[in-house]
Amino acid sequence: ALAVTEHQAETATISNGLAEANHAGYTGSGFVNYDNETGAYVEFTVTAATAGPATLTFRYANGTTADRPMDIAVNGAVAAGGVAFAGTGAWSTWGTRAATVTLAAGANRVRATATTAHGGPNLDKVTVDTGAVAVGRPA
Ligand code: GCU
Repeated sequence: ALAVTEHQAETATISNGLAEANHAGYTGSGFVNYDNETGAYVEFTVTAATAGPATLTFRYANGTTADRPMDIAVNGAVAAGGVAFAGTGAWSTWGTRAATVTLAAGANRVRATATTAHGGPNLDKVTVDTGAVAVGRPA
C-alpha cells in the first residue's frame, strides 16, 4: 500500500459547507468553505492497508485572526479534539496542521467538524501518511 495519499476536501462529503474556488492557491479544483456554525463538517474516506497510526496533515486557510478549531474523528469517535486552525494571514495564504490518529484496516471515515460558531477554516485537502511502504520498495 502507498504510504501517502491525498484527499481533496471539495470532493469529500460536505455537511453545511460549500465547495468554492474564489481564493487562489488551492490544490485540486477548489476548497471547502465551512458554514460559519458549530457542527459543520467535511468527511473523507481514507483506506489503510493495515491498522495503525497515521499522520493527517490538513491544508487550510483562515483569513481571520481567530482560531477555528475542529474535532477530528475517525469512524465516529473523536481522535483529536479541538485541533487549532489558527489564522494564516489571508484567505489565499495556505498553511498546514497535523494530527496523529489511529486508523483501522480498510476504509475509515475521517471527519473534521467545526467546534465554534465561526465554523471551520477553508479546507483544501488532507494528506494521510501511514508510514507504510509499497511492496517491492526498500524500507
Ligand atoms: C470570507 C471568505 C470565505 C470564508 C469566510 C469565512 O467570506 O471569502 O472564503 O470562508 O469569510 O469567514 O468563513
